[in-house]
Amino acid sequence: MESSSKLIEMGDEVLLYLNERKSWIVRIGEGKKFHTHKGIVDLAEVVGKPYGSEVSSTLGATLKVLPVDYLDHLERIARTTQVIYPKDMAYITLMANVRSGSRVVECGTGSGALTSYLASHVRPGGRVFTYEVREEFQENARRNIERLGLLESVEFKLKDITKGIDEREVDAVVLDMATPWLVVGMAYRALRIGGRMVSFSPTINQVEKTVDEMHKSGFLSVKTVELIMRTYKVKVNETRPDMIMVGHTGYIVSARRC
Ligand SMILES: C[S@@+](CC[C@H](N)C(=O)[O-])C[C@H]1O[C@@H](n2cnc3c(N)ncnc32)[C@H](O)[C@@H]1O
Repeated sequence: MESSSKLIEMGDEVLLYLNERKSWIVRIGEGKKFHTHKGIVDLAEVVGKPYGSEVSSTLGATLKVLPVDYLDHLERIARTTQVIYPKDMAYITLMANVRSGSRVVECGTGSGALTSYLASHVRPGGRVFTYEVREEFQENARRNIERLGLLESVEFKLKDITKGIDEREVDAVVLDMATPWLVVGMAYRALRIGGRMVSFSPTINQVEKTVDEMHKSGFLSVKTVELIMRTYKVKVNETRPDMIMVGHTGYIVSARRC
């Protein structure tokens, strides 16, 4: 997927960049022209050129050709559900101690955004077992994960996780679902000693029930955080936070199995 030093080849998937608001992921094919609101681009023109080269459209717009990376795909993920924000995704993955070779149970799959991030961290050798009750959500997520080339690190399970976790001795359990407190006891039994559990919830009522169950089950190091992120408008002598921000996404509870 990432191919910065090589030359652009026929069949490559590239990022066609017009400006910060408009860019497209396109596969270069024989005789294939790409239509934009700024004119048509003949992608054959960039074959054999280095990444970073420019191509002109029939209406005179200049577009850059870049290698596609994980973030390009994540921004365009097809959503059938609310997805986890990048700021939360990164912290969840850190607190779940997810690394190469980890075996991770996740619920729910949703659109597969968090699944994809977890999958990209367990490679090579690890696996994400992701539970989802809605078949149509699972199918959409599977397509998203396939587009990212991460299918071999993910096992999709069409199952209500409150009916039981099939895996044992897993390194982490990660939840983004409406009723995480119903899963705490079974997460404890599925985890290896020292394994981590992390749960993301939009409301504090969910957090209270989840934390209460974690204490009852014997989890250690139970912590709850909320991450608030401000973006900035940066310009010499005018730098300040953006006027509009995402005020709330959710709370993250983390804990460790004893
Ligand atoms: C908010 S979405 C998850 C979004 C996902 N983290 C992402 O980043 O794309 C919650 C998902 O959990 C699923 N879900 C809720 N309860 C479940 C359960 N008991 N077992 C399996 N899936 C469940 C829902 O169907 C929904 O797709």
